[in-house]
Amino acid sequence: MRQLAYIWFNIHKVLSHIVEQDCWENNYNKEAYDLHLVRGKRMELEEVMYKRRSSREFLTKEIADEDIDTLTHYAMSGPSACNKRPWEFYIIKNAGIRGELRKVTKYTDYVSPLIIIVAGNTKRALALQLNDFWIQDCSAAIENILLGATSLGIGSCWCGLKPQVRPVKKVQTILGIEKHIVPLGLIHLGYTAQEPEQRSQYDKKRIHIME
Ligand SMILES: Cc1cc2nc3c(=O)[nH]c(=O)nc-3n(C[C@H](O)[C@H](O)[C@H](O)COP(=O)(O)O)c2cc1C
Repeated sequence: MRQLAYIWFNIHKVLSHIVEQDCWENNYNKEAYDLHLVRGKRMELEEVMYKRRSSREFLTKEIADEDIDTLTHYAMSGPSACNKRPWEFYIIKNAGIRGELRKVTKYTDYVSPLIIIVAGNTKRALALQLNDFWIQDCSAAIENILLGATSLGIGSCWCGLKPQVRPVKKVQTILGIEKHIVPLGLIHLGYTAQEPEQRSQYDKKRIHIME
């Protein structure tokens, strides 16, 4: 009897996870959307797509709070599996912390006036085998930040953290965040002196049309 109760308890636990995951409702924050509708003219989407390139040298000029705010709105307007939005954004203005963060790998070692760490909150993510969907959700958010930055004339570089174990741990320690918050990407942001060449890297051989 006790065994049966135990089995039922576990089935119930799994079922409630599944029900919890069935959450396609459209619960956007209307107030935030209304407040942050395009403020003035932005670049055309096509120009932004081709103009977005990784910049690794930045000017010291700071990014205005209003623009940082806009970027976080763009980030959180991205798609996410079951609309879980399991993301956390750490906006690092502090020079000392930026100095520590850029040293976490030799590929993050650039000097920029702003770093955004995009991390997945695995407790807010989908459960069980669907948990890793947070990586795709956060990647979409990162791309929104990069494209948004380009549209504002701000340069950026997405530096990967996860799946590199040590850099992930180092960032968790530097930021003092708990283990269930997993840093996925470090984004350097800043104005740049040179504009990188616009390009698409389109390769027809990678297109597979099935009619
Ligand atoms: C997941 C991911 C991780 C990356 N990590 C780094 C990195 O650690 N350091 C770096 O300088 N660039 C990094 N990049 C940027 C790529 O090197 C860059 O996107 C690629 O060379 C194409 O150049 P583009 O961004 O100018 O189009 C990363 C990009 C992605 C998508």
